[in-house]
Amino acid sequence: MQRRDLLRTLALTTAGLTVLPAFAKQNFMRDIAGPGYTRGDFGDDFLWGVATAAYQIEGAWNVDGKGPSIWDTFSHTKGKIKTKETGDVACDFYHTYKSDIDLIKEMNMDVFRFSIAWSRVLPNGTGEVNKKGIEFYHNVIDYCLQVGVQPWITLYHWDLPQALQDKGGWPNRNTYTAFCEYANMVTKEYGSKVKNWMVLNEPLAYTALGHMIGMHAPGKKSVGKFLRAAHHTALSQAEGGRIIRANVPGANVGTTFSCSDIDPLKEKPKHQRAAARVDALLNRFFIEPVLGMGYPTDTLPGFKGIKKHFEPGDEEKLKFDFDFIGIQNYTRELVKASIFPPVMWAWQIPADKKPVENIEITDMNWEVYPEGIYNVLKKFAAYPGVKKILVTENGAAFTDTLVDGRVHDDKRTKFYQDYLAQVLRAKKDGVNVTGYYCWTLMDNFEWAEGTRPRFGLVYTDFTTQKRIIKDSGLWFKSFLQK
Ligand code: FCB
Repeated sequence: MQRRDLLRTLALTTAGLTVLPAFAKQNFMRDIAGPGYTRGDFGDDFLWGVATAAYQIEGAWNVDGKGPSIWDTFSHTKGKIKTKETGDVACDFYHTYKSDIDLIKEMNMDVFRFSIAWSRVLPNGTGEVNKKGIEFYHNVIDYCLQVGVQPWITLYHWDLPQALQDKGGWPNRNTYTAFCEYANMVTKEYGSKVKNWMVLNEPLAYTALGHMIGMHAPGKKSVGKFLRAAHHTALSQAEGGRIIRANVPGANVGTTFSCSDIDPLKEKPKHQRAAARVDALLNRFFIEPVLGMGYPTDTLPGFKGIKKHFEPGDEEKLKFDFDFIGIQNYTRELVKASIFPPVMWAWQIPADKKPVENIEITDMNWEVYPEGIYNVLKKFAAYPGVKKILVTENGAAFTDTLVDGRVHDDKRTKFYQDYLAQVLRAKKDGVNVTGYYCWTLMDNFEWAEGTRPRFGLVYTDFTTQKRIIKDSGLWFKSFLQK
């Protein structure tokens, strides 16, 4: 099972079955001659960067006073990570941050997007601050500024302090209060140096995969827990925005959303309705409350129960006027009507079963579909209230081999070139898209998949922690050269 097959997994969870799909990998090699555009075509102010997440790269899970997070607990639990690995060391970025930031600079990127590990700075989630943890992010920020890379911080990229999970985690409203304390502390701490902030990374991913599907930390499988976690997350999303704006003079305040282009299997009303429900869950669930439109429960009757968790005033508290939104796109979904899972009555067709000719599939079993990023950019730009969009993640995992010290990852280079062509098309068609961040800097710990899927522009040797810029990274380096 792959994590973007949300509904299939939910159905299997509901039915108590575990079926591993046949994995069809395509062998394709395409022409990677020039992409037909230049950096200049995107405009002088367009930002180029790489995105990362604390748990996926830092390691040092229990070093210098860091408290455990739910991902430490989850990866230490038998059977949760496919490769039986943990993120205890990951890329050891805690110790290698300088040479890793040098690589960002070397690839001519403007921006380093990273997240703060909440339990590194507040080991218990609230209360006492860990000075060494605070110092670490100062060092990272200072080094970025020193070499001329802009630091962009995500407040929350899925690693809730375990101490808060022990009190109920996101389904407990106190986690929202704790998040505000954390957001307040770090924005005051780093706000004089860092102007670009994102509140959350992909709220749907961690609320649904972590609370309804059980595939990610904290591994819960309950629709009720998902709804409570979702509401407290949506409140944190807006309040986090207000906190950044209040504490950081001149801040550029954003938050990010996972999004996929969604098509019905056939243009028949029942499949179209199923596709609309999947769209409401995957694309609309967290952006619409922030824009004052409420949760899309008219389209998703199975999730109407979320209203039970409202307290007086919440309707207003869910809104915030973000300066930008980050969209994160990896694939598209093909959907058909189905009796499973009952909360959705819809089925996402796995990539290797899609009736699509010449389909290209990544190591995550995600379909390569460049037009999808054009469609989601247009879709999100059409919301009144969305002022500016950045692609805060896009990228692909392919099997990489090291040959004579080089990684010829032509498929990844082609992936980026094709997706970027569609981003440029959206820009030319009037979408105010102002930046593009690759997922990711270097091969890292890919959550429940372990280190097997390699997404990096830089190859990581997990035994020696040696880094090698892949051909895709070298392509960016020459493409971005001014
Ligand atoms: C995104 C996550 C990121 C990484 C990529 C592959 O959904 O935000 O941490 O796992 O997928």
